Amino acid sequence: MPSGRPTLAVIGGTGKEGRGLVYRWARAGYTVFVGSRTPAKAQRLAEEIRERLAQPEAPVFGLSNVEAAQRADIVVLSVPYSAHRSTLETIREAVQGKILVDVAVPLKPPKVTKAWRPPAGSAALEAQEILGPDVAVVDAFQNIAHTLLWEDGPIACDVLVAGKGKANRQKVMALVEDAGLRAWDAGPIENTAVVEGLTSVLIYMNKTYGSTHLGLRITGLKD
Ligand SMILES: NC(=O)c1ccc[n+]([C@@H]2O[C@H](COP(=O)([O-])OP(=O)(O)OC[C@H]3O[C@@H](n4cnc5c(N)ncnc54)[C@H](OP(=O)(O)O)[C@@H]3O)[C@@H](O)[C@H]2O)c1
Repeated sequence: MPSGRPTLAVIGGTGKEGRGLVYRWARAGYTVFVGSRTPAKAQRLAEEIRERLAQPEAPVFGLSNVEAAQRADIVVLSVPYSAHRSTLETIREAVQGKILVDVAVPLKPPKVTKAWRPPAGSAALEAQEILGPDVAVVDAFQNIAHTLLWEDGPIACDVLVAGKGKANRQKVMALVEDAGLRAWDAGPIENTAVVEGLTSVLIYMNKTYGSTHLGLRITGLKD
């Protein structure tokens, strides 16, 4: 990765969760490549975000998933779990030597209020298996509702960052902070099973308590 800020790709960046991430990183001044199966759809989102920012020259670009993954230093994957494996296989070559930030939650519709783990242990562990040892898979944003990301205000929810390698987690934590959220180092990739499972807990609690965007706050840190 060259010195300075990394360039970012958001694969599935046209979707609910991904577009909020694209918006927040573009607002923070990052170069963002929006990946889509339909590049024209990604280009429309890039244009919408440039207009929203009132910055016609903002470096936000719409591309195919593979091209976005090739161009970026850090690649964020934000597709439904049903498309997780096939999308990873599509971008596998393009992400070698990079950090892959996995946003996916392995939900099993219609029982999305019940935590479910794939045979590998988590979506992140599965991604690590598919991509191989030269990619560092790091989970983030699993517990943040998409409506909050698309809004402008501060978000009073914390992001647990778990995945391969402390230095990689720290790079992802910097991205989380630049998106306007508080990041925590939540440990090694084995812990992604818990981070991802918490989303089913939050979906259950949203239904139980009549909300759409419950989140988590970590407390107890010394001043
Ligand atoms: N929504 C939330 O509040 C939220 C919160 C935390 C985590 N997450 C996780 O974030 C990920 C994305 O969620 P989302 O709600 O943003 O999903 P989404 O809007 O349904 O889909 C995101 C994007 O994925 C691509 N996609 C959809 N179906 C696909 C398929 N069958 N094959 C290949 N690509 C496909 C589409 O992009 P193109 O058509 O442009 O290719 C779509 O715009 C999920 O794993 C979810 O569990 C979501």
